[in-house]
Amino acid sequence: MTRDSGLTSALCGRRVALLVTGSIAAYKAVVLMRLLMKEGARVRVAMTKEASRFVGEAAFSAFLNEPVLTDMWSRAGEPHIELGEWAEVMVVAPATATTIAKMASGVGDNVVVASFLAASGVVFVAPAMHHRMWLHPATQRNVRRLKSWGIHVIEPVEGELANGQRGIGRMAEPEAIVARLVSHFRGQKRDLAGYRVLVSAGPTEEPIDPVRVLTNRSSGKMGWMLAERARERGAEVILVAGPVALRPPEGVRCIEVRSALEMENAIRAHWQSVDAVVMAAAVSDWRPSQVHSSKIKRGDRECLVLELVPNPDILAGLGKERQGARPVLVGFALESENLVEHALDKLERKKVDLIVANPTSALGGDENEAIFLTREGAKEIGRLSKGELADRIWDEVRRLLKSLRNRD
Ligand SMILES: Cc1cc2nc3c(=O)[nH]c(=O)nc-3n(C[C@H](O)[C@H](O)[C@H](O)COP(=O)(O)O)c2cc1C
Repeated sequence: MTRDSGLTSALCGRRVALLVTGSIAAYKAVVLMRLLMKEGARVRVAMTKEASRFVGEAAFSAFLNEPVLTDMWSRAGEPHIELGEWAEVMVVAPATATTIAKMASGVGDNVVVASFLAASGVVFVAPAMHHRMWLHPATQRNVRRLKSWGIHVIEPVEGELANGQRGIGRMAEPEAIVARLVSHFRGQKRDLAGYRVLVSAGPTEEPIDPVRVLTNRSSGKMGWMLAERARERGAEVILVAGPVALRPPEGVRCIEVRSALEMENAIRAHWQSVDAVVMAAAVSDWRPSQVHSSKIKRGDRECLVLELVPNPDILAGLGKERQGARPVLVGFALESENLVEHALDKLERKKVDLIVANPTSALGGDENEAIFLTREGAKEIGRLSKGELADRIWDEVRRLLKSLRNRD
């Protein structure tokens, strides 16, 4: 869901080129085009020959003033570069493995890739493909190359693929793509410029022996989104990250840690020099009291008893030691029951400024449902993508920081 619509949108009046390629997800590009138009964007469309095997040109042209570009040779002039020069924003959605490969190696043999090579504006790419195609080293290398040129890759999500299998490779939903564009342009306001923030993300791993660990299912996605959005809005960002399968976001200082104690040390080294600390990490509450120096043998024992000792409550420690109101402290409360009650307890006990309360279903997925709890009360946020929720959290942090500035 996008927050802005029509004339108030950050996309209002922007020239957006939608480039469609030959994936089964091509039909979703029609929905994407309609959503972009609803945001007030001026949209033009180009598609590959293969794309038109999945969705007809008329599905787009019925809504457009301009013809859909399908062929570089269809008319006189220079249709191969026209769109690239015209567009402020280019969105390749869905982007096939083939088109991504051509983009990464500069093979402009169709109107989509030629337009991309001639692009003067910001480029977004929303891949869609079978999960093994997505995870293939060739595709991953091509995606990395695009990212290294500053192209925004809207990562595919996990879900049911066209052949009924599940896996990562499904194109992000059109609503999520529009939300990303909106937030990109809203982010250009850079309303967090001049602020330094620290975000913790991911799970922790508590060693049992040299090969085994105690951990949890946190994917790190929420923390990643928080770090990316803060950076897009101009903040200087330190990301303290537990072990996750995500590449560090660009432009963010990433400190990689494994255990809760390592995470605490990394956070304590920086927390007094930042304006806000957002603890999105799922820090293990417990760790084995003893780490075995060699692998515990299975042997013929009936059972193995592990003694656990509590880990430090990092956020509560900061809340207790904080002098004055800086940095703003934000925590998450992930609860399976009595969500608000437990979150309120955390707000008071840990002496923090904002608790983002969410149900356990938030773990791992791409969406999150939240309630914000501050000293002023509770605010229902509802179901949002993690990116949108990250923006809402920064809106709230910025409000708290501004009220501190007014007090100073
Ligand atoms: C039924 C069908 C579905 C396909 N779906 C995808 C897809 O989702 N993603 C992808 O990368 N390729 C997919 N392909 C393969 C591409 O269509 C093929 O690589 C084509 O050359 C892409 O051309 P283009 O990138 O120029 O549009 C599919 C092919 C068929 C026959």
